[in-house]
Amino acid sequence: MEPREVAAAARLRGTITLPGDKSVSHRALMLAAIARGESRIHGAGDGADVRSSAGIAAALGATLERTARDDGNADYRIVSPGADGLRQPAGTLDCGNSGTSLRLFAGILAGLPMTATLDGDESLRERPVARIIEPLRSMGAVLHARDDDSRPPLTVVGRTPLRGIEHISRVPSAQVKSAVLLAGLRAEGRTSVSEPVATRDHTERMLRGRGVTVRREVGANGWVWVELEGGVDVQAIEERVPGDVSAAAFWLVAAAIHPDAELTIADVGLNPTRRAIIEILREMGATLDGAPIAGDHAGDGDGDGGVGEPIGDLVVRSSELRPVDLGPAQVAAAIDEIPILCLAATQAHGTTRIRGAGELRHKESDRIAGIAAGLSALGARVRVDGDDLAIDGPTRLRGGPTNSLHDHRLAMTFAVAGLVATGRTTIAGSGSASISYPSFYADLERIRT
Ligand code: S3P
Repeated sequence: MEPREVAAAARLRGTITLPGDKSVSHRALMLAAIARGESRIHGAGDGADVRSSAGIAAALGATLERTARDDGNADYRIVSPGADGLRQPAGTLDCGNSGTSLRLFAGILAGLPMTATLDGDESLRERPVARIIEPLRSMGAVLHARDDDSRPPLTVVGRTPLRGIEHISRVPSAQVKSAVLLAGLRAEGRTSVSEPVATRDHTERMLRGRGVTVRREVGANGWVWVELEGGVDVQAIEERVPGDVSAAAFWLVAAAIHPDAELTIADVGLNPTRRAIIEILREMGATLDGAPIAGDHAGDGDGDGGVGEPIGDLVVRSSELRPVDLGPAQVAAAIDEIPILCLAATQAHGTTRIRGAGELRHKESDRIAGIAAGLSALGARVRVDGDDLAIDGPTRLRGGPTNSLHDHRLAMTFAVAGLVATGRTTIAGSGSASISYPSFYADLERIRT
């Protein structure tokens, strides 16, 4: 299938069933691995990244039964002896392409009495790990990585119990926050993480849903502080995974920029720390309707007290788009959606600016370089200045060759561009879409009517 060709679409219509949210699926598997007893997960994403986490949970001694569902997702039944009963893995723990598996499992392993090495593919071996080594070391674990402790493979020598710390995260990263909180479960005393802007809070919600008290406060300056008490057991529960809003983003933009489109996206996870993409597209003028979110007990707009994951359907139609100016806080809130937002910007009337996007250089590829090269190859006007992007629109895109750099979010962005570009667009490394969205190309062909 390499490289894949996508032809322009005359019309887009239909309903999309999403993959289960990748971030929630990873965490559900990890928390099931450390919770004694039987956990059940319904509708987990079945992409390669989530499968990596499932493989690691099994290598640590949890028993996993996976059942494939008709909607492309998977159900799991997991039986674990609990964190204290997990075993030293026989070999290296393979994270594949998944930064979330690597960083969050490092936090879990830091508090277990064993030595384990986390490794992955060529792309993962370029991802920074010093950001988790530093706090986990100060909690008492021993960690080593390649290139002066900067890149995987990452070896973790765990320690029980760890020491609680107050960690101030320089980068806004849910992976760093989650690694420290997961280690904090196995620490004496309190562990807190402060981050400069709010990042996704699935770990906090999912821990609360499993009996752990997690406090969270937002300061006037936007800093977020999260704290938990160590030595608490995580309960085994049954849970349903919402649809992945980061996967929905491709269809939201596809319909908004296509001249004849109406798409319905079912059961989208609408967690307030993940739905910035919806707010940004609305600010750009996208015609995007969603089920109203009732009640608001925790003040975060979803009415569930910050425990569950709010879910709703979205309907999106062809739209006239305006440019936006996104600063570092919005970039952090929509970090995985910036590539597809860049495509939306090529069709907005004016110049869209995206400032302070340096973290994008440390994802599955250097996404600033990759998106600028791919969209420019289709005729878009994209300027890169350090970690800032400026995109002029609207531009009539013309089909041509693009390179995803084997990065799933770039591959899917260029495929959506192919639906609105004239002629044919080819995507090198298109197979990477299966990292997060195995049925992406099947859905893309189905909505072309
Ligand atoms: C994720 C956090 C984000 C995101 C990644 C998934 C998570 O990474 O880009 O796709 O599940 O915690 P950072 O927290 O490192 O920015």
